[in-house]
Amino acid sequence: MEIRRIAEVLKQGQPEETVTIAGWVRTKRELKGFAFMEVNDGSCMANLQVVLDPQVPDYDTLVQTINTGASVVVKGNLVPSPGKGQRIELKATTVTLYGEADPQTYPLQKKRHSFEFLRTIAHLRSRTNTLGAVMRVRNACANAIHRFFQERGFLWVHTPIITASDCEGAGELFTVTSLDFNKLPRNKQQEIDFSQDFFGKRAYLTVSGQLEAEIMALAFQNVYTFGPTFRAENSNTSRHLAEFWMVEPEMAFCDLNGDQDLAEAFLKYIFKFVLDHCQEDMEFFNQRIDNTVLETAENIINNEFGRITYTEAIALLEKADRQFEYPVEWGVDLQSEHERYLAEELFKKPLIVSNYPKDIKAFYMRLNDDDKTVAAMDVLAPKIGEIIGGSQREERLDVLENRIAQMGLPPEDLWWYLDLRRFGTVPHAGFGLGFERVVQFMTGMGNIRDVIPFPRTPLSAEF
Ligand code: 4AD
Ligand code: MG
Repeated sequence: MEIRRIAEVLKQGQPEETVTIAGWVRTKRELKGFAFMEVNDGSCMANLQVVLDPQVPDYDTLVQTINTGASVVVKGNLVPSPGKGQRIELKATTVTLYGEADPQTYPLQKKRHSFEFLRTIAHLRSRTNTLGAVMRVRNACANAIHRFFQERGFLWVHTPIITASDCEGAGELFTVTSLDFNKLPRNKQQEIDFSQDFFGKRAYLTVSGQLEAEIMALAFQNVYTFGPTFRAENSNTSRHLAEFWMVEPEMAFCDLNGDQDLAEAFLKYIFKFVLDHCQEDMEFFNQRIDNTVLETAENIINNEFGRITYTEAIALLEKADRQFEYPVEWGVDLQSEHERYLAEELFKKPLIVSNYPKDIKAFYMRLNDDDKTVAAMDVLAPKIGEIIGGSQREERLDVLENRIAQMGLPPEDLWWYLDLRRFGTVPHAGFGLGFERVVQFMTGMGNIRDVIPFPRTPLSAEF
């Protein structure tokens, strides 16, 4: 028994063909002595209509026990569909019911559920139209990302999830420990003695694979990471997750301009790939979630991104005809209200802001000649704000050592990172793309928790 996917059958199946399909019943109804089921197998948004006539073995039992949510395998013949909305349907010869779903308790009945409610049943919500479309777009995005880099000769490198360094220096780390919380070893100062912990020192879940990606770029020239990252930010927003996936390319012999060019080409490529491969799902988002997503995607593919410096951005914000919640002056970090104003209202397209004040950025960013700014860049997207953050890295040993000292970071922990500046250092640059942010941007989904199968957020690690 060869099971065919419904997406393929709907596209290529011919009348008279005998096929077997498998999936979950979305609806079942009886009409004029026949039973009709809509079956979905996750391969596409559309269901395949299955028609059962009373000749089907066990007809009566099947019709009684098959309900929304049940899993079935159906063998039958394709016939032209008299109903509208579909070209063909499946006339069943045999139906095997694998698992029933009790209509009294199965939570996904045929009505619209709120996304908040669906989050409480994340083990079932992927069987809905919206989450199904999200997961297919997410998959296409991941595929596009690998293709983009592989076509350009970037090496996919796997950076560690457990690490002893805080790449971003923001202190938003989850500690990884095997210490017994009821018998914590303490030193003379009564602090927890991590030298007795599993790794002999305090270890964390990584916030970014960048530092290790830099190591690899200085051997392979162009590399990228694509993996989970973790931040113990207590931000309960529609754009933050405690566990999210990040894509981090890193390029040796590359400066901030090259970095911006790559970021722009990269986003254009992903959007084009998804439009080409997920047409039906993207149309669904445009109709049901946000009627600007198709236009936005075309806008991204066809227009050059805006590029301004941080100093220019501040000037534009100071001129804005409105009161921001967070006041603007040179030196402040851009808040999402500022980012959205710039990208959404002023430029109406993605915007790259570069050369931020050094005091609001991480230690590894290359110091500019003005001694006040660093070669950083953020890509800001309408509706989302920051979607990419990157920089040219400080490749000069003495400047980097100074910066580390000024920021009060322990140089002994970064000995290997400094070594890269001792042995064969080169200008290099890279960025990090928040994978869920790009899926959110693409689909128009309002909350980042609905574009990852199992969101981890403050007070929530269910499933
Ligand atoms: O700007 P960030 O903090 O940059 C870095 O981590 C660098 N080490 C990247 C690099 O240069 N290799 O994070 C990068 C991106 C952000 O632009 C944002 O899209 C996403 O990661 N991001 C989050 N996404 C979801 N939830 C969170 N809590 C996020 N924090 C950052
Ligand atoms: Mg950032």
